[in-house]
Amino acid sequence: MHRLLKYLKRLAVAVLCLVVILAAIYYIPFPPPHRVPTAVYQTSDLKFPKDFFWGASTSSHQVEGNDNSNWTAWEKKNAARLAQEAPSKFSNLAIWPDIKAQATNPQNYISGGADNDYNLYPEDVQLMKQLGLTSYRFSIEWSRVEPQPGQFDQAAMDHYKNLVALLRQNNIEPFVTLWHRSQPVWVDQQGEWENSKTIQDYVAYVKFVTQNFGANVKYYMTFNEPALHLVGGYIEGVIPPEVKSLKRGQAAFANMMEAHRQAYGAIHTLNPDAQVGSTQAMQLGSGAPNTILNMAAASYFDNYANWKFLDGTKDTTDFIGIQYYSPTKYQVTLGGKSKVSFKTFNDPNASVKSDMGWEVYPHGIYEVITAAYNRYKKPIIVTENGIADQNDKLRAQYLADHLYWVSQAIKDGVPVKGYMVWSLLDNFEWDKGFWPRFGLVAVDYANNFKRTIRPSAYSYKQIIDNNR
Ligand code: BGC
Repeated sequence: MHRLLKYLKRLAVAVLCLVVILAAIYYIPFPPPHRVPTAVYQTSDLKFPKDFFWGASTSSHQVEGNDNSNWTAWEKKNAARLAQEAPSKFSNLAIWPDIKAQATNPQNYISGGADNDYNLYPEDVQLMKQLGLTSYRFSIEWSRVEPQPGQFDQAAMDHYKNLVALLRQNNIEPFVTLWHRSQPVWVDQQGEWENSKTIQDYVAYVKFVTQNFGANVKYYMTFNEPALHLVGGYIEGVIPPEVKSLKRGQAAFANMMEAHRQAYGAIHTLNPDAQVGSTQAMQLGSGAPNTILNMAAASYFDNYANWKFLDGTKDTTDFIGIQYYSPTKYQVTLGGKSKVSFKTFNDPNASVKSDMGWEVYPHGIYEVITAAYNRYKKPIIVTENGIADQNDKLRAQYLADHLYWVSQAIKDGVPVKGYMVWSLLDNFEWDKGFWPRFGLVAVDYANNFKRTIRPSAYSYKQIIDNNR
């Protein structure tokens, strides 16, 4: 009896300790992460090597218009729902009064003619020239080039060859993304990246493109932000292919890595001078509040998003494409119907925010560039960085401040080879439609896609001119 009492007492103490530890993990916040304040610098501090690539990025589905990709099909099914959900998702944004009519209109969620860049690309190349760009990152729309399995459309491929020829005539280096979210409907129908047959199909498509470009294209990116495909498409299940299963997502992700490795070999065989990489959406996470549990979630997901794909492909990558916009907050909630729920969001208290509510934190680009370089020792190219800013109030400062930190990374010995603004043009922002305005060049959708260069684009040009 006495021993039993003693045992029960010990058990009670152990349970109590466990409860205290769990409560501490769940409730006690550590101070928020240290934020390096925006730097004070002179324009002359923005120093870059002479051969630095100055560019802007786009992707096919977001600018070309009228493709038959899986996204086009998805939009038709989801536009009404997205319009209905808009108030609950965006009414907390400062620009809500300006965008309300557009964001609650289903038409906003249909890419349709997008920017009509498929027809207006000669004008767009002239805009690049006018802005002094020396590189342009764009993607090939797989659904145009291979509309049916194994049937390649030479005329569609010739479109991209013409674009490349025009870029070359204007001394603009083409950077080709081979997969930027959109893909043929038949790829989705066969189970997309979960099906290992998609690896062979993708490699066949990549060979066709590489053969066609020959020596005219040197820089290739196999995949744009593959981890976001895993998160949005397979974990949250809110974008194609709308699956909600981590296990299935991991299988798809592994196949994407294998597709990268095989594509890397295929491109190098066809073009020994090629430089092949991929681009990653770099996360800079912290907990909100910064409890041990939230911090652990931030570190787990940052690791997955930033490094998992690169760790699996590091021996088959010539450079690393870094895409950075803003830090992310992570919050884990215990209890409720699903026992554990998890959300990521932007710091609502950030002092400077984009139209989309994304915190502006320029030093972050230095943090992610140096972390990637220290981990892999490969050249870095910033393949996306930019801001949704419809009134062009923040963009010039945003670009200069981020470029300052890129120049500091170079000064500290990191071989950063180029910087591409997202985006050359306002464009179709996936499940948010047309209201986020990322362009160096504004597009007037009500007026025949009229392009107007924004003042911030001239500030960017000034930095380019100072360095050439
Ligand atoms: C994507 C682009 C997107 C941009 C802004 C990146 O995640 O590659 O397609 O438009 O960020 O959200």
